[in-house]
Amino acid sequence: MTKNNVKFRLEKKEDYRAVENLVRESFWNVYRPGCSEHYVIHVLRDDPAFVKELDFVMEEDGRIIGQNMFMKTFVDADDGRKIPVLTMGPICIAPELKRRGYGKALLDYSLEKAAAIGFGAVLFEGNIEFYGKSGFDFASRFGIRYHDLPEDADSSFFLCKELIAGYFDGITGVYRTPAGYYVKDCDVEEFDREFPQKEKLRLPGQLFGGDGEED
Ligand SMILES: CC(C)(COP(=O)(O)OP(=O)(O)OC[C@H]1O[C@@H](n2cnc3c(N)ncnc32)[C@H](O)[C@@H]1OP(=O)(O)O)[C@@H](O)C(=O)NCCC(=O)NCCS
Repeated sequence: MTKNNVKFRLEKKEDYRAVENLVRESFWNVYRPGCSEHYVIHVLRDDPAFVKELDFVMEEDGRIIGQNMFMKTFVDADDGRKIPVLTMGPICIAPELKRRGYGKALLDYSLEKAAAIGFGAVLFEGNIEFYGKSGFDFASRFGIRYHDLPEDADSSFFLCKELIAGYFDGITGVYRTPAGYYVKDCDVEEFDREFPQKEKLRLPGQLFGGDGEED
């Protein structure tokens, strides 16, 4: 990655459609046939939990090649407290630039900014192979459980990074995904019609099957 031509900045209203298109291109057929993430960001920007100061795009030579965003949520602590935390994503890099270090650079920049504002921790669902390189660990190691997951289920998808060291010391509890992330397939379909036609493919390695299957 040649850092000289790369710039991070806050997303502007004028960027919205270009960013949605980037997200669509990047997520398309990765986790399911087609994708929903371009609609998810469209909805999340108007959500009260959305953190405008952490809504980033990454540019190279003036072209938007990456984006990342955060939402406020809570861990319901077992002692009755509500612990404010952040969740993150979608994050993406333009398809032709994946696996060249751009994603890690964007992630590290975003986390640094979130820490500077004073947020205590970030939790979300992701691949430890990528996020582990930026200091994430399994949330179970911090005593935090994923909502609605049976105790004996594999929770290795659920990751955490403390932005304030020791933020979860003495705390156990359940993380709640903000409601805004849950979108209806029919709304995604309708929104997707505003974009250029793309073929949905069922590919090996996808987590979800499509055809209205719940995720
Ligand atoms: C995930 C994503 C943001 C990572 O950005 P990236 O620029 O491709 O990643 P980087 O090159 O910075 O990766 C840094 C390291 O993380 C690891 N890594 C990155 N993506 C990985 C993946 N999909 N699987 C396993 N390891 C991965 C690798 O070790 C990589 O180093 P390497 O290339 O030397 O092996 C990008 O691939 C993307 O946009 N994917 C599609 C959308 C998506 O899945 N978003 C995340 C949803 S949780």
